[in-house]
Amino acid sequence: MTTQPNSQKIYVAGHRGMVGSAIVRQLIALGTDPANIIGRTHAELDLTDQAAVRSFFANEKPDQVYLAAARVGGIHANNTYPAEFIYDNLMVQANVIDAAFRNRVKKLLFLGSSCIYPKLAAQPMAESALLTGFLEPTNEPYAVAKIAGIKICESYNRQYGASHGVDYRSVMPTNLYGPGDNYHPENSHVIPALIRRFHEAKVKQLPTVEIWGSGKPYREFLFVDDMAAASVYVMNISQGVYQTNTSPMQSHINVGYGSDITIAQLAATVAKVIEYSGEIRFDTTKPDGAPRKLMDSTLLKNLGWSPTVDIESGISRAYQDFLTHKA
Ligand SMILES: NC(=O)c1ccc[n+]([C@@H]2O[C@H](COP(=O)([O-])OP(=O)(O)OC[C@H]3O[C@@H](n4cnc5c(N)ncnc54)[C@H](OP(=O)(O)O)[C@@H]3O)[C@@H](O)[C@H]2O)c1
Repeated sequence: MTTQPNSQKIYVAGHRGMVGSAIVRQLIALGTDPANIIGRTHAELDLTDQAAVRSFFANEKPDQVYLAAARVGGIHANNTYPAEFIYDNLMVQANVIDAAFRNRVKKLLFLGSSCIYPKLAAQPMAESALLTGFLEPTNEPYAVAKIAGIKICESYNRQYGASHGVDYRSVMPTNLYGPGDNYHPENSHVIPALIRRFHEAKVKQLPTVEIWGSGKPYREFLFVDDMAAASVYVMNISQGVYQTNTSPMQSHINVGYGSDITIAQLAATVAKVIEYSGEIRFDTTKPDGAPRKLMDSTLLKNLGWSPTVDIESGISRAYQDFLTHKA
C-alpha cells in the first residue's frame, strides 16, 4: 500500500458523522496534517444545494474527496421518509462528484452500503451480485440512490478517466458500529440499540432483557475504525492494481468483517461487555428478517486489507463511547 500523501488537501464530506469522523481519525493517525483535512457541517454546507457545493469546491480546491455524507436511517425512517432518502442521497452524490470533477479532483471515494445487493442474493454477497435481482423493498429508494452513486463514479471514470485523470472509487460497507453511533431508543441499528438496552437494564437491575425475534439470524458487523482504515487503504491502492481487480462497470469493493454471528451471540457479547448478568429472552412472535446477510470480502482481502478489531473489543470501545457521550 502507498502511504497517505501528506501534502494533499483532503475533503471529508460528512466529517462529523460516525464514518466520516473515523476517516478523519485514520488520516491523522497515518500522518496527515489536520490542517490539510477540510470538512463542513450540514448547517455550514447543505450538500443537496448544487450552487453551494460548486462554490465550496471552487474556493477550497481539494485534491481528494471522501464522500461519507448521506441521509442514513433504520427501517422506520426509510419507510416514513422514502422521498427524502432518495432525493437527498441522489443530490448529495451528484453534486459532490460533479463539483469534484469540475474542480479537477482526481481521487474520490464514495461510500455505499450492503443494501445495494438484491434481497435474495446468494450468500456471501459478492460484488458481482449487484443488479441481479429485486432489492429489499423497505430501503429500496436509499439503495437505488447508492447504486446510482456507484454508477456516477463509474460513468465519470469512463468518460473522463483517460482525458482528465479521473479515478473515482466506491466501497460498500457492511453493518458498522463504534464511536459516534446513533443510540436513539427507537431509531438505532442493532448494536447501539442493544448497548442502550443492556446498559439501562443493568442500571435499573432488571432481571431480563427481551430481544425481538428468535436470535437465530446471522449478521455481519465491522468496527467503524476498521471501515475508515479500509477506506483510506482503497483510496490509496495504485490505479493499476485497482483497475486490474475491478472492471469499468463493476468497480465497487465490499468491506466486511469476513464472518458473521447470530443475534443471540451478539446479545450475549453485549451483555458480557456491559456486565449485565440477568436473563436474555427472545420474543419469537416478532419477525426475524433475512436468515443471513454476509458480504463476500475476498476481493479486499486479496488486495491486502483485513479488519483488526474483533466484535468483543469493538463493542467494548463502543460502550466506552456510549458511557462518555450518550448514557
Ligand atoms: N452506519 C452504518 O452501519 C453504515 C453501513 C453501511 C454504509 N454506511 C454508509 O456510510 C456513510 C456514512 O454513514 P454514517 O453511519 O457515518 O452516517 P451519519 O453518522 O449519519 O453521518 C452522515 C453525515 O452526513 C451528513 N449529511 C447528511 N445529509 C447532508 C447534507 N444534505 N448536507 C451536508 N451533510 C449532510 C450528516 O450531517 P447531519 O447529521 O447534520 O445531517 C452526517 O454528519 C453513508 O454513506 C452510509 O450509507 C453506513
